[in-house]
Amino acid sequence: MTEPRPRRLVVGISGATGIAYGIRVLELARTVGVETHLVVTPAGQQTRAHETDLSARGLAELADVTYRPADIGAAIASGSFPVDGMLVAPCSARTLAAVGYGTGDNLLTRAADVTLKERRRLVLMVRETPLSLTHLRAMTAVTEAGGIVMPPVPAFYLRPATVDELVTHSAARALDLLGIDIGDQPRWGEVSAGHRHQPTPSQPTSTRDGATSDQGPIFGPAPSGAFPS
Ligand SMILES: Cc1cc2nc3c(=O)[nH]c(=O)nc-3n(C[C@H](O)[C@H](O)[C@H](O)COP(=O)(O)O)c2cc1C
Repeated sequence: MTEPRPRRLVVGISGATGIAYGIRVLELARTVGVETHLVVTPAGQQTRAHETDLSARGLAELADVTYRPADIGAAIASGSFPVDGMLVAPCSARTLAAVGYGTGDNLLTRAADVTLKERRRLVLMVRETPLSLTHLRAMTAVTEAGGIVMPPVPAFYLRPATVDELVTHSAARALDLLGIDIGDQPRWGEVSAGHRHQPTPSQPTSTRDGATSDQGPIFGPAPSGAFPS
């Protein structure tokens, strides 16, 4: 008998600011044994160089398989290659528009188009602000085609202490939408039940006057009780 194939996720990184989201998605997927297939656009490589100390090779090593964006004959360009879904993190306005209008002009947008045509789950962590009517129309087009537009908007009810926590929370929420539960993430119901998320002792946090403190998050621990969702 053949082994069941591993869960498989296509990850696209395009040239919006916030490559940290894509990096964290790859790291989290690996912790739960999800096989990742990565494609990074040339603009995504530019933001990598601006925003991280990772080399292109270091980024590629976070994934199980990587592809060149020009390789439009790659496995993930075909609907016959079985994958469980695709996440674009971060997703630029250009890639959003290309996905919304099905241009398939590089391997990332082709793989996204395939994801939609195969009726698989597609999540776009669109990072642009403010939004023009063009952006909003492209978001509508993606949504009408069955995709999910999920800008990485931070949630403050968990009282995040660090940027790292904000990034992890958004990345984990995006993976949730793909049915990938990475576990051990603070969630509102669990927070209100008393399982508060605390910063680790090795991560001192800033206080309002700019000094650092190990006394806890900047806005204090999350309260218990009802909170609007
Ligand atoms: C440092 C940097 C930050 C950028 N941030 C954004 C952004 O947040 N959102 C966006 O839509 N485009 C952003 N851009 C512009 C895109 O990279 C550009 O539109 C590019 O053509 C996108 O190509 P891609 O979608 O193929 O990755 C940024 C560019 C650079 C160099």
